[in-house]
Amino acid sequence: MNATETPDFPPSLLDIALFYAEAGVDEAIGEQPVDRTVAPPPKPQPAVAVPAAVAAGAPPPASPGSGVQAALASRAAQPASVSAQQAETAATQAARACNTIAELEAAIRAFDGCALKATATNTVIARGNPQAKLMIVGEAPGRDEDAQGLPFVGESGQLLDKMLKAIGRDESNVYISNLLFWRPPGNRDPSAEEIVACRPFIERLIELVNPKVLVCTGKFSTGTLLGTTQGITRVRGRWHDYKRGDIAVPAMPMLHPAYLLRQPGVKREAWRDMLELAARLDELGV
Ligand code: URA
Repeated sequence: MNATETPDFPPSLLDIALFYAEAGVDEAIGEQPVDRTVAPPPKPQPAVAVPAAVAAGAPPPASPGSGVQAALASRAAQPASVSAQQAETAATQAARACNTIAELEAAIRAFDGCALKATATNTVIARGNPQAKLMIVGEAPGRDEDAQGLPFVGESGQLLDKMLKAIGRDESNVYISNLLFWRPPGNRDPSAEEIVACRPFIERLIELVNPKVLVCTGKFSTGTLLGTTQGITRVRGRWHDYKRGDIAVPAMPMLHPAYLLRQPGVKREAWRDMLELAARLDELGV
């Protein structure tokens, strides 16, 4: 059908599929249709261990130096549901109990406190060398990452790889992960609850990898891990300190490669940031 034709009624299956595809609905996530205008039956709570104090309404333990600016701001305005607090507490306990990356990966895969897991195909944790001195944390898996179970393997990952190659880095000397371990459906922005539930794991992963330099790509990773309140275009390219417990790592916020694909005009800034990153790595001899 073109713009001058009268739409057929009822529309053909092809017209319906095209309508959805144009609206960005390009993937089926379940076998059965779900009418989301109808209130769902009460769901069982996620299978997470909840300490008595939390179940009784006590706030979860504070994470030192944590900075989920958007998430915490929204939680302050509208207290998180008990299940979100439970998920955060369970994630914190599970992450702290892990002493190796392999244990942490198993704990993330076993974690049921982030609702995204229900619609994701794979849990996506990391790729690259866990002994690398440079660690990059992006936002969340997209469609390709969800399908392959590895971070940054789609179009934006390919651009990231090219940027890294330009400064002599590749999977042998970089470790790449994300703030979230499951794909938000339709690549929507992460919610406050999802960030809060996954944050203890990514913080523990950073602690276990213990990089000499951390790069946060995009506003969510930057806001969450570096506690910045200004926009990514203002803070990008400036060194920050990532501090948690005994860990203090120089950290650089960068524009997200997906943003660079949408706005190629800003690649010049991204290149400047890459050169600054390369200089710092040289300075540190890593
Ligand atoms: N964008 C991200 O932030 N991470 C990925 O893994 C893929 C795209």
